[in-house]
Amino acid sequence: MIIKKLLITGSSGYIGSCLNTYLKKRYKVYLLDLVKPKEFNKINLKNFFKCDLKNSKKLDKILQKIKPDLVIHLAAKSTVNEKIKKKNYISNNLVATRNLVNSMNRHNINKIIFSSTAAVYDKNKKRINENFKLRPISNYGKSKLQAEETIMKNNRLNYVILRFFNVSGCLKKPMIGEFHNPETHLIPISVFKSIKENDINIFGDDYKTKDGTCVRDYVHIKDICIAIEKSKNYLKKNRSTILNIGGGHGVSNKSVIKNLEKILNKNVRVNYLKKRKGDQAVLVCNITKAKNLINWRPKNSRIFNILKDEIMWSQFLIKQKINRKYSSVQK
Ligand SMILES: NC(=O)c1ccc[n+]([C@@H]2O[C@H](COP(=O)([O-])OP(=O)(O)OC[C@H]3O[C@@H](n4cnc5c(N)ncnc54)[C@H](O)[C@@H]3O)[C@@H](O)[C@H]2O)c1
Repeated sequence: MIIKKLLITGSSGYIGSCLNTYLKKRYKVYLLDLVKPKEFNKINLKNFFKCDLKNSKKLDKILQKIKPDLVIHLAAKSTVNEKIKKKNYISNNLVATRNLVNSMNRHNINKIIFSSTAAVYDKNKKRINENFKLRPISNYGKSKLQAEETIMKNNRLNYVILRFFNVSGCLKKPMIGEFHNPETHLIPISVFKSIKENDINIFGDDYKTKDGTCVRDYVHIKDICIAIEKSKNYLKKNRSTILNIGGGHGVSNKSVIKNLEKILNKNVRVNYLKKRKGDQAVLVCNITKAKNLINWRPKNSRIFNILKDEIMWSQFLIKQKINRKYSSVQK
C-alpha cells in the first residue's frame, strides 16, 4: 500500500513542527493541534486544523474530509509535572487517544504511529529493552501507557508505538527546534542559560553513577523524524510493533556540561543542588530492536552534535528576540 497522505496530531509542538518540516516536501501532510503553530514555524495554514482531540464531532469531520492513509499521533500533555493531577493527564492523553482511535475506525483509517515514552518503564539501571517491566511512576507515564494499551487492543489498527527517550536538538534547513513554555528539559535550559551567562542547576551529584550525576539517553530530533518515516515504511506491510528510540548510550549531567564548555570555549557556572524525589539515577535504552526491524540508527545523536545544534537554535531564538522561559524543575 502507498502511504502518501499523513495526519500529524500535536503538530504545533516540538516534535510535530520538526516532523512537518522534515516530511512536507515528500508527502501530503495535514496538521492538527489544540493551538496554532508558533509564528517562527512558517506553515501553510491551509493544511492546519485547530481541534481538540477530545472533541469527537469535530475530529470526525476532519478525518472524513482528509481521509489520511496514516495518523502520526504526537498530541499529548507531555511535561512530567506531578503538580498536574492524574485526571488531567488521563482526560487529555487517554481520552484524546480513545477518541482518535474510534474516529479512525469509523473512517476506515487503520495505520497509526504513536509517540510513547521511556516514562512507561519501571526503574532499571540496565539498558532497557522493550520487554522490560512496565511500571510508570509519573501520572504522565501512566496516561501514556494506557494510551498504548488502547491502541494495541483495537484489532482494526496496525500500529508502531515508539517509546522516545530524551529528544533534543533542532533541524537546520529551515531552522526549527524545541520551544516549550516553560522549558523543563536539561539541554535547552543549560544551553540557553550558559549563552546568557546564568548559573545552571544540577539536581544531585551523589548518585551511584561514574561522576555522581544522573545519566540519561539523548536522541537528536532528526533521528526521531527518520525513525517515524521508517516506521511508516514498516506499516506498509500491515504489521505492528513497539520500539525504543534513543541514542542507545548514557550521558551524565556533568558530561553534558563538560561538552557544552568545550563547544562554547568557556566555563559554565553550575550549582549542584539536592537530589529530587522521583529522579532515576540511570535511564538508558537498548535500541537493538529498532536497528533490526526498521534498519534505524541514531546517526545524529552524539551529545556533541546535539549540543552544537541546540546552541544554533538558541542563538536563532535570541536573534529573533524570542525569550525562552524555563522552570526550576528541569528534567
Ligand atoms: N520531547 C521529548 O523529549 C519526548 C520524549 C518522549 C516522548 N515524547 C512524546 O512525544 C510527543 C510530542 O512531544 P513534544 O515534545 O513535541 O510535546 P509538545 O508539548 O511540544 O507538543 C504536544 C502538542 O500536542 C498538543 N495537544 C495536547 N493535547 C491535545 C489535544 N487534546 N488535542 C490536540 N492537540 C493536543 C499541544 O497543543 C502541543 O502542541 C508527546 O506525545 C510526548 O509524550 C516526547
